[in-house]
Amino acid sequence: MTSCKTANGKELLFVSGKAVFDGVSPIRGGIPLIFPKFGDGWGSDTVPKSLPGHGFARRSKWSFDVINDKPCFVLTNKDLSVEYAEAYPHQFKLVFEVTLSADGFSTAMYITNNGETAMNFQALFHTYYNIEAIEPVFVTGLKGTSFINKLPSANWVPVDDREKLTITEETDAIYMDIKAPSITLGGISSTSPSANVNINYSTSDNVKHVVVWNPWVDKSIRMGDFGDEEFHKMICIEPGHVLGYKSLAAGETWKMDQQITYQA
Ligand code: BG6
Repeated sequence: MTSCKTANGKELLFVSGKAVFDGVSPIRGGIPLIFPKFGDGWGSDTVPKSLPGHGFARRSKWSFDVINDKPCFVLTNKDLSVEYAEAYPHQFKLVFEVTLSADGFSTAMYITNNGETAMNFQALFHTYYNIEAIEPVFVTGLKGTSFINKLPSANWVPVDDREKLTITEETDAIYMDIKAPSITLGGISSTSPSANVNINYSTSDNVKHVVVWNPWVDKSIRMGDFGDEEFHKMICIEPGHVLGYKSLAAGETWKMDQQITYQA
């Protein structure tokens, strides 16, 4: 998913001007779907290191389907390249569903284990939000949550006591054991100071972690598919299950969701 405009024309998602749309590279922006591993994964034998960073879902070709009268995008193990199917030898089905509303959208990902043994994975909506400028932006809803600061080297912060999280440097943090069902992104519009984006998700055996990411100056320069100054225009808020892994028994389906609402 690379774009969603509200009824009054506000684009909610960011896509880099240098994003590559070649069908195999991950798209730098929108909502890359992360499965079955986040980053380099959790390092067990279950999902081999040979899978690319953030997994194969964002590098594979999904098909369009209509399920229960809803338009959906589907990826199964049969759609994978031989290399990916061998590296992750599970029978699975991913269904990505988008529901539009006048002031936003919601996404759901249903992950089904069609195999006969348990299937382990990590999964995440790597949502890139479109903002006018990073300086005034603040994130609320994470106060009281512990996080792992991935920079400069995995520091564990027992509790984030900030009412408002602002971005003033490279930021790459995994918030753990999320209990609050929503996060708010404020300061996103210069003409409408109270405008915000509300991000809701289910926390019961569903979204357990939220990643907050902005590459800032140096990393932006290092990324070939991202403009040097584009970090001013985006912030990623990424709900999912990325620490340890989710284990799904044979025949089970697990759902991950997010509801995005723009309030002018
Ligand atoms: C975030 C990670 O989710 O994605 C960051 O926490 C990473 O560490 C970022 O840099 C972008 O990843 P990629 O693979 O799309 O460059």
